[in-house]
Amino acid sequence: MAARLEGSKLLIPLALLLAAGVLLAITAAGSYLAALPLLMSPTADVAFILFALAFAASSLARLLPNAGTRYLLRNRRYIGLGFAMVHFTHLALVLSSITLVAGQAREPGTLVPGAIAYLLLALMAVTSNDASVRRLGPRRWKQLHKFGSYYIWLIFLATSLPSRAGNAWMLLACLLVLALRIAAYRRGRGKKAPA
Ligand code: HEM
Repeated sequence: MAARLEGSKLLIPLALLLAAGVLLAITAAGSYLAALPLLMSPTADVAFILFALAFAASSLARLLPNAGTRYLLRNRRYIGLGFAMVHFTHLALVLSSITLVAGQAREPGTLVPGAIAYLLLALMAVTSNDASVRRLGPRRWKQLHKFGSYYIWLIFLATSLPSRAGNAWMLLACLLVLALRIAAYRRGRGKKAPA
């Protein structure tokens, strides 16, 4: 199954599941506006899982080389694009909520770091192709994607803290993927990166 679900094909079931989830919530809640609170956290959660898989892919492939981690690494670009698709759905919900629902205005302290994360995510998504790697050069491309992914990681970490969403599994997963990256870096010092 996994062997056939490779590359851009991965995005098709993800888009279908996302559309089905949104439609289901709208049907259950009775309207798009009533569905917004139901969809806000699940879209962030699914986006986070895809983000964590893409963020940890090369570390897992280095620390635990097997068919599963090689699959993750080979498909990291499309897992990242899947993350962008789900997280831009979160943004559409956020914008709908702020503009269409009374009393949902947010403080600049929430909006500005979030907007920077979306700007970086957009830059990462539009440069996730071979032509952009060639145009930017591998070094600058890597710098953009490394900076962008650590910034987004920081926003997920901050959002999952007990003082915010208080999401313990997400907080632990944030720390785990960072630990994996540190362990892989230490193991790979002086060796060539797997990809
Ligand atoms: C642009 C500003 C953003 C606004 C106004 C916003 C708004 C929201 C809202 C209303 C919720 C539902 C829970 C709650 O009411 O606190 C939520 C959940 C969440 N958002 Fe966003 N969001 C933004 C950007 C982001 C970004 C950039 C990220 C991550 C990179 C993110 C990650 C999350 C997470 C992790 C949750 C919690 C999920 C859970 O409870 O399981 N959000 N957000």
